[in-house]
Amino acid sequence: MCRPNEAMRVKLSTLEQAPAPGKGAAVRSEDGRVLALFNVGGEYFACEDRCPHMDSPIHDGTIHRGIVTCLWHMWQFDIKSGACLLNERIKLAQFPTSVEDGAIYAELPDVRTGPES
Ligand code: FES
Repeated sequence: MCRPNEAMRVKLSTLEQAPAPGKGAAVRSEDGRVLALFNVGGEYFACEDRCPHMDSPIHDGTIHRGIVTCLWHMWQFDIKSGACLLNERIKLAQFPTSVEDGAIYAELPDVRTGPES
């Protein structure tokens, strides 16, 4: 049975194709969703690729010491926590990641729909 609120583990990238430390990239998950993937000191963090302000692609932001700055209006976010530095009530929508067998995975909301299987 499909449960839309459950998480599903989805491959985001191979380690070879992942962003280098201090970089971000847009990645398409194996089920077709586009996310931002950041590398902070060798740890990977995934979030929606939309700035909460006006939906710019946050992977394009500049990164310094684990903080990404959106290129459109310079809002800043802590990549590890997703917290906005300007307003603690605003966060990037983040997803837990893991690395296994040379690939990066994320726990994403299960959006599959359809009849029970
Ligand atoms: S769209 Fe990111 S700060 Fe405005």
